[in-house]
Formats: sequence, structure tokens, C-alpha cells
Amino acid sequence: MLVDPAGREFSYLRLSITDVCNFKCVYCLPNGYQCDHDRDFLSLNEISNTIKAFAHHGIKKVRITGGEPTLRKDFIDVIRAAKDTTGISQIAATTNGFSLQKNINDWVNAGLSAINVSIDSFDPRMFNSITGHDKFASVMRGIDAAVDSGISSVKINSVLMRQYNASELDTFLSWLKHRPVTIRFIELMQTNDNKDFFDANHLSGESIKTKLLQKGWQRIIQGASAGPAQEFSHPDYQGNIGLIMPYSNDFCSTCNRLRVSSLGNLHLCLFSEEGISLREHMNSDSNEALIALLSRYIKTKKPSHLLQQGNTGITTNLSMLGG
Ligand code: GTP
Ligand code: 5AD
Ligand code: SF4
Repeated sequence: MLVDPAGREFSYLRLSITDVCNFKCVYCLPNGYQCDHDRDFLSLNEISNTIKAFAHHGIKKVRITGGEPTLRKDFIDVIRAAKDTTGISQIAATTNGFSLQKNINDWVNAGLSAINVSIDSFDPRMFNSITGHDKFASVMRGIDAAVDSGISSVKINSVLMRQYNASELDTFLSWLKHRPVTIRFIELMQTNDNKDFFDANHLSGESIKTKLLQKGWQRIIQGASAGPAQEFSHPDYQGNIGLIMPYSNDFCSTCNRLRVSSLGNLHLCLFSEEGISLREHMNSDSNEALIALLSRYIKTKKPSHLLQQGNTGITTNLSMLGG
């Protein structure tokens, strides 16, 4: 088991397989993905060895992230590589949903057990203003297909922003009434690229929590390994709510995840410094060097991201590290 100096145990790997994205979310890539040269993203073999090294240390859940991970032609092979790794019991992905409807059944058959999809508005025009794409109807059909596919978990991620969709809370809630889906409201986070946008749009998760409690939503008691989201249920609603509030006190105390970027850097935090490169060890037949490096590096994890103090580390936007 990987344990850091604060005693936190890590069972969850977030593995980014590309930083390319085809959407232009206002809080992430408002000008779209910009890169004028090919990037040498991790190969399938490197991905497979990395998952094995983490599994050796007791990692049980892998979340495949991007950019938009499903843009990779071998996305389904990445799912299979995780599925073939002894010790990995949950394989999740985070997507903008653009190809969900077409592919979800194949992904589930390959071993995908959970999917998180970004939907920042239930109003097609607002969805378009936030993501830069007219894909609302197609993403929603994808959500229905995901629910029908038999996958264990479907979650919707939504960032409520003062100048965009903050007034839609009730629409989100009523959508949940008859659907076994969790909607997570994520506090807008400041990155190196979005300071002005953040200042104009950040809405505190505490204000959303107050409204939920007033409407009869109740906090679900969560286990010690549940991770940082706070979950809520309501007797009249089939779906649940999650709040991801990185600006709240103590958010990092329940951290259970580590991140590897699509270029092979291990990041101990979403808002950390450069991280360290694992790549030179990812192609060796024996995974020993990689396994040993993980044991050593985990000892340098800091207690908190210090986002509240304006620290954003090297994170220019969340697509570079998969959130
Ligand atoms: P589950 O695995 O279903 O619990 O979801 P998740 O929240 O780990 O994954 P997802 O990829 O859907 O992330 C949703 C949002 O939460 C993204 O904006 C992430 O950046 C944010 N998030 C997830 N984990 C952390 C974290 O450890 N720190 C911070 N600051 N944000 C996080
Ligand atoms: N603040 C909060 N959430 C963000 N996401 C991307 N950038 C930000 C940000 N600056 C979210 C997306 C997606 C998830 C992977 O990260 O909405 O659901
Ligand atoms: Fe793409 Fe996700 Fe960033 Fe939106 S939030 S631009 S979908 S990586």
C-alpha cells in the first residue's frame, strides 16, 4: 500500500492518456486545444506497465482521463489493459460524452465499470456557450445509453458558475428525480490560465450545500476511503448529489488518489509542482524500478494543495492532467 507522511492511503490512480480535447469549455480550454506539434503520449505498453506497478502497491481503481481520453484510437485497449491487470477491480473514465452514445456498450463489454460525463447545463444554448459545441442532445442520448448499458456507475459533472449556469440548480435537481445517476457540482478551480474567469465566476460549494440542506437533501455517511466528494441523498429522488469543494477546509485530508500525466509524469496533487517522470522506467520488462520509485516518491506528498491561498502549482488548465 502507498501511504504518505500524513497517513493517507492511495487506492486510486487517475491516468491521463492524452491532453488533446475537442471541446472548448470556458473554464478549461476557452480557445480550444493549442499545440502545433505532435506530442509523444504514453504508449499502450507504457500504460499497461504503469497500471501494473500501481496495482502492485494496492491500487484498485483506475480512472482514465484526458484531455478527452476517448479521442485516442486505442481507448478500448487501454480499458482492456486495466481489466487484464491483477488487483484492478474498478475501471472508470471521465469524458465530455461526445462519442458516448456510439461506444458505451463496447467500452462496458471491454471492462469499463464507471463513467463520469460533464454536463454543465440542461439548456442547449447555455451548453453551447460553455463548451463551444452544439452537442447537448447527443451527450444526453449518451447518458441514457450509459444508464441502459448496465454500467455500475454513471455520474454527471457540473461546474456551476455565477455568470453562466448558477440559476439552473433546480433544473439539475428535478432531472435526478427519476434517474439513478449522481450529479456532482464541482467548485470552479483557479488554474494558471483562468484567474480573471475564476474571480468573476467562482461560486462556493458551501452556498450550494446550504440550498441542498434547505430542500431536504441529507448527507450520506461515507466510508474512510470514499475520497473528497461529499454525497447527499433525498428520499424523493432516485439520483444522488456529490459536492466537490476543493476550497473547503480539510478537503485534502481524505485524498485517496494519485495522478499520472499523458507524458508519464507522476503528480502527487492536481496542483503540485512538476511531478517526476516515470517514463524511463515504463518500458522495462521488470517493473521493479517503477515500483521502487513509487515507494520513495510518495514520501514527499504535501498535506494540502493550498488552493485557498491561490497556489495553482504548474497547472495551466485541468485538461493537462485530467482534473
Ligand atoms: P469518482 O471517481 O467518481 O469519485 O470521481 P472523481 O471526482 O474522482 O473524478 P472526475 O474525473 O469526475 O472528477 C471530477 C472533478 O473533481 C474534476 O474537476 C476533478 O478535477 C475534481 N477532482 C477530483 N479529484 C480531485 C482532487 O483530489 N482535488 C481536486 N482539487 N479536485 C479533484
Ligand atoms: N474547475 C473545476 N472543474 C473543472 N473541470 C475542468 N476544469 C475545471 C476547473 N477549472 C472539470 C470538468 C470535468 C472534469 C474532468 O474537470 O468539468 O468534468
Ligand atoms: Fe475538454 Fe474536459 Fe477541458 Fe472541457 S473540461 S475543454 S471537455 S478537457
